[in-house]
Amino acid sequence: MESADLTEQNIDKIAALFPNVISETKDADGNLKKAINFTLLQQILQGDLVDGDECYEFTWAGKKQSIIDGNSPLRKTLRPCPEESKDWDKTENLYIEGDNLEVLKLLQGSYLNSIKMMYFDPPYNTGNDFVYRDNFTAAKDEYEEDVGLFDENENRLFKNTESNGRFHSDWCSMMYPRLQLARNLLTDDGVIVISIDDGEVNNLIKICVEIFGEENHLATFLWKSRQTTDSRKSTNMSIDHEYIVAFTNRQSVFSLKGNDIDKGKYTNPDNDPRGSWASIDLSVQATRDQRPNQFYEIINPITGISYPANSQRVWSKSKDVVNGMIKENRIIFPDNPSGRPREKKFLSDLRSEITGFSSWLDPKDVGYTTNGTRELSSLFEQRIFDFPKSTKLLCHIINQASTEDSIILDIFSGSATTAHAVMKLNAKDGGSRKFIMVQLPETTDEKSEAYKAGYKNICEIGKERIRKAGEKVKEEAGLNGQNLDIGFRVLKLDSTNMKDVYYGAGEYSQQMLLDLESNIKNDRTDLDLLYGVLLNWGVPLALPHTNEMIGGVKVHFVNGVDLVACFADNVNETIIREIAKRKPLRVVFRDSSFANSPDKINVTEIFKTISPETTVKVI
Ligand SMILES: C[S@@+](CC[C@H](N)C(=O)[O-])C[C@H]1O[C@@H](n2cnc3c(N)ncnc32)[C@H](O)[C@@H]1O
Repeated sequence: MESADLTEQNIDKIAALFPNVISETKDADGNLKKAINFTLLQQILQGDLVDGDECYEFTWAGKKQSIIDGNSPLRKTLRPCPEESKDWDKTENLYIEGDNLEVLKLLQGSYLNSIKMMYFDPPYNTGNDFVYRDNFTAAKDEYEEDVGLFDENENRLFKNTESNGRFHSDWCSMMYPRLQLARNLLTDDGVIVISIDDGEVNNLIKICVEIFGEENHLATFLWKSRQTTDSRKSTNMSIDHEYIVAFTNRQSVFSLKGNDIDKGKYTNPDNDPRGSWASIDLSVQATRDQRPNQFYEIINPITGISYPANSQRVWSKSKDVVNGMIKENRIIFPDNPSGRPREKKFLSDLRSEITGFSSWLDPKDVGYTTNGTRELSSLFEQRIFDFPKSTKLLCHIINQASTEDSIILDIFSGSATTAHAVMKLNAKDGGSRKFIMVQLPETTDEKSEAYKAGYKNICEIGKERIRKAGEKVKEEAGLNGQNLDIGFRVLKLDSTNMKDVYYGAGEYSQQMLLDLESNIKNDRTDLDLLYGVLLNWGVPLALPHTNEMIGGVKVHFVNGVDLVACFADNVNETIIREIAKRKPLRVVFRDSSFANSPDKINVTEIFKTISPETTVKVI
């Protein structure tokens, strides 16, 4: 009941490419395990290895440790919390409370290659927004040695701007493993979109290039986020923009939706049999020197009137092309000899009805930061969260980057704007996108309005936002909102459901025996165990589940018979046979469930006979 060991998975990936470099070694307990023969791998790659310590790379103090921590397994679980959820039985949305690094590790099995779009809005590292609880923040002395401030004899080696260096390194160490784990969850045609400002944009892009590959850098969008200029800086510089960095998983199989061409300007006033057309300017701003081939006179073959290019504007096409267009009656000559000929452009000639999505985000489409603040304040009737993004911005991006049934993940959920935007967009286009929000239960400041209003941590704000926003979206959607999913299942990160039962012989005592009768912690419910198994088996957490009484005990059915679980006491052979007859894909029992030892021994045999395809597990 541990999260996946990602180092082990990496070894498997190398093994798939180079089976001969797989070897064996002993772990700390003396057990044999798979390992890489690195010398052999180096020999295979001879000629293309980094020579010496100079190469093109991006690094910071603590990078190695952050990679190790990102790959190490975790003995934790997600515990369902139906009482804080909405529409628990029906919803396919998730709200997960906990540190996002740990949550991402737990989701590796259930959501591998499943998320079409991720929107991350991490702390921008402005000096007071950066909270995270990873244990890889380098200790001060370790750090100073790392960056070369001091040697082991405490001699200062070179002067570094200490606070600055520490500042960026911690942020990079926070982001790197999260992005690495997030990438595993993206579908092949998936995209990750990350908000950031000037402070860390360079570091973010460098980290993303390392994780996703330079060829997958879709764009760094520019958003004019400030509506009015800032006059507080002594430099008189007003920073009015933010960035949205987007990387695809595999650019070759990805595309944005693009924008529809404005067909309104295509009409057919002269009943041209070729269909609707638009009158397009045939000149472009350029001088004769710049485009000599486009500086000539267009002559109307009927009237003989000539229309010369001028010193500031030349024709947009060469003389030959325009003459061809005149023959095909694709040039409109003006009635007035001082006017300019124009192109008759037919709708049927457009190669696509879609035009590109600009990397410059227009405030008229996405709003400003103030839109987010106003929107949230009006929902709560007070200022409950600083600088939320607006649903206008999120809807615009999600609409472009997702399909109508995508799963959208946000691991820095904050006030849950992403969830709000997903519901809004579904209401608008009838889609069934689902969201997964992850948020640390970070406590609110006692002096804040949020705290005074009873929201003791950010998760409480996020969940309430989704409840309020969902109702509002549904109401505004009217009849269209009937099948809208405005619910969410709450799951909370907690220690594993299993007791630590791996004691050395010398560590057992008489008092422990009673406690060890069950290997499962006393406070864990059936539902806790069910979700622990879903995670462990890599089954999505939003699947519908029901339960049924069979032979007097409760049996859980996840997505029909995808997974059947029974954690009750006294499960006898009759019940096991009854479950086997349903032919489940997977079945799980609890070790202490069986009425007696023969029943426990028989379980595998019963399934082999009645439902040989079923995978059986006992926890
Ligand atoms: C910039 S805010 C996101 C705001 C959000 N986009 C909105 O519109 O409300 C970043 C959020 O990430 C959360 N956060 C920071 N570190 C985290 C972590 N390690 N795990 C989960 N959440 C974290 C913070 O508590 C904060 O709510």
